[in-house]
Formats: sequence, structure tokens, C-alpha cells
Amino acid sequence: MIRLFVAVELPQELRARIGMMCTGIDSAKWVAVDNLHLTLSFLGELPEDRAEDIAGALSSVGGAPFPLTMGGAGHFGSGRRVRALWLGVERCPALSALRDRIESTLVRAGLPPEGRKFHPHVTVARFGDVSPGWIRDWLSANTLFRAAPFTIERFVLFSSHLRRGGAIYTPEMEFPLRG
Ligand code: 2AM
Repeated sequence: MIRLFVAVELPQELRARIGMMCTGIDSAKWVAVDNLHLTLSFLGELPEDRAEDIAGALSSVGGAPFPLTMGGAGHFGSGRRVRALWLGVERCPALSALRDRIESTLVRAGLPPEGRKFHPHVTVARFGDVSPGWIRDWLSANTLFRAAPFTIERFVLFSSHLRRGGAIYTPEMEFPLRG
């Protein structure tokens, strides 16, 4: 079985900047700078021979490059059960449209629809148990985060291997947006 997801990558300078924000909460499992990404679709565990069909189907998604601006910060979960901290993106219809085309392509290829609403974000930390005060402080320190726009020129099918020291994400296939 292979665990797959589709994501867009972030420019190296932006990842480095985000990496510098990843500090100040002892119990956080900060996402490694090289692993920072924006997930478009999580496919879950699939038999390895399905990966080739999926990659073939994704080749038909197409679309043109578009600009994306990251901004804002937030969390998933509440109280001591905050599960993740994330950085957001500004409204981007082209990103939602790309995600919709990917989703419908995956459904046509036989995968179940994800079902939940798309909430574009870049996860920066995950938690087991965390004091709400740490979360509040980190959010108020980073709420004004806004990055320079960058151009999304491709999306990527990644495999994910869960390891004790953190996940290893491997690009399996890249899909350029050529317009
Ligand atoms: P997250 O950043 O919101 O945690 C690789 O694990 C990517 O797939 C991550 O970006 C993660 O989203 C997403 N992911 C992992 N497990 C998932 C699940 N069960 N449902 C949806 N997305 C998931």
C-alpha cells in the first residue's frame, strides 16, 4: 500500500521564512521546512498498482499557472485539543478551481469524494496535548503574517511514509500547469 496526497509546493524562501516562525511552543511537533506544503487532496492508502492509474488520470487536469498569496494564521481543534496550527492563503478562486478539477478527476478514477469543505492551509505544527495559552500567544504573534505573492506553476502527487522522526514526503509525479 502507498499513502498518497496531491499538493502544491511553496518557494524555498517562503518555506525558510515560515520555518523561522516555527518556534516558541515546547510541545509542538513543528513541520520540517522541507515538508511545508499546501494539500489539495488527500488520497489515503492505496494499492501500489493504483498509483499509476491515478497519476495518469491527474495528467488530464491541466490549467494555467496562477498567483497565490499566503496570509493569516489559525488552528484546528480547540482548548487542550488543538490538533494543528496553520498559515492561511488569501482568497484564490484559481486554487479552488484547481482543487475542484483534481477532486472530480480522482472521483472519475474511482476514488471516494473527500466530502469535507476545502480549507486551503499550510500546517506548521501538530500537537498531542497543548496548553491553550501557548496557542493564543503564537497566534497573536503571527496573525499579521502575509507573504509576497508567488506563482503556482505545477501540482505534485506525493507519497508519504510515516516514520518515528516525522513523515517523509516523496514527489512521485509533477503536473505542470501550462495553460
Ligand atoms: P494537514 O496538513 O491538514 O495535516 C500529508 O499528510 C498531507 O495530507 C497533510 O498536509 C495533511 O493535511 C493531509 N492529510 C493527512 N491525513 C489526512 C486525512 N486523514 N484527511 C485529510 N487530509 C489528510
